[in-house]
Amino acid sequence: MDRLKGKVAIVTGGASGIGAATLRRFAAEGASVVCADINDAAGVEIVSKLGADGAKAVFQHCDVSQLADIEATVELAVKTYGGLDVMYNNAAWSGGGYVAQIEPEVWTRSLAVMLDSVFYGMRTAIPAMLERGGGSIISTASVEGFFGEIMAAPYTTAKAAVINLTRNVAIEYGRKRIRANAVCPGAVETPMLERLLDVSPNSREQVMAQHAIGRFIQPEEIANVVLFLASDEASAITGAAIVVDGGLTSGLHLAGFPPFGG
Ligand SMILES: NC(=O)c1ccc[n+]([C@@H]2O[C@H](COP(=O)([O-])OP(=O)(O)OC[C@H]3O[C@@H](n4cnc5c(N)ncnc54)[C@H](O)[C@@H]3O)[C@@H](O)[C@H]2O)c1
Repeated sequence: MDRLKGKVAIVTGGASGIGAATLRRFAAEGASVVCADINDAAGVEIVSKLGADGAKAVFQHCDVSQLADIEATVELAVKTYGGLDVMYNNAAWSGGGYVAQIEPEVWTRSLAVMLDSVFYGMRTAIPAMLERGGGSIISTASVEGFFGEIMAAPYTTAKAAVINLTRNVAIEYGRKRIRANAVCPGAVETPMLERLLDVSPNSREQVMAQHAIGRFIQPEEIANVVLFLASDEASAITGAAIVVDGGLTSGLHLAGFPPFGG
């Protein structure tokens, strides 16, 4: 229950899905948490519930594509709780389409929300962590950061860049006890996945079947890994892109033989 006792953590995109699950997990392990999101109603509801359960939690309206919003969020964490130990860059939005048909504004907005945001989060968190004598930066990439995906070029490009930006921070700041890691999920059952499934030609069952575990990943299963990376238990892990994909990228399925047990 005390794996993050005394630590202060920011979670962007904390009002839904993976971010909300992680916020709850962090708070349950003793962290003071800041939920940063553009969805004020959902964010306020989550922190109110955490507060009612005895946690220290505040909400900050934050559009992660805006440096000033990220700076205000880190400032709130430092002013309210005395410092910053964990920065979880998790919020995302992306447009899509075939590459030659993507409007430049959609490309720019997608990269702003998914890549500039992570740079802003790192750029702003690092000085606060240096003050604190160290810290852990975690960013949500995706298994799509390792592969292409049809009609998802802004997404795959941003996620690949997040993985390498993570490595860069790791090698630059490791001596100062700041670690940076990325988590790379497969299909996680969140509103974002539901939006994809609404337009995908694949059925839910077909998407699930691509995972070795034969089901969608739950947000809490990602939160468990993020918690580990945030905690001192992961003190030797930095610059890593940790795949949490239920076996999605473990194999090809060209031959079509069914897995053992059907
Ligand atoms: N769900 C999946 O299958 C899956 C797979 C791989 C990676 N991911 C990644 O996981 C992360 C979380 O996704 P999720 O599935 O929990 O999605 P979600 O839609 O449930 O939550 C995303 C949150 O980000 C917030 N957000 C969107 N734009 C924002 C902005 N400009 N500023 C601040 N907040 C903003 C939304 O309001 C929402 O609360 C994302 O980085 C996503 O790319 C998700």
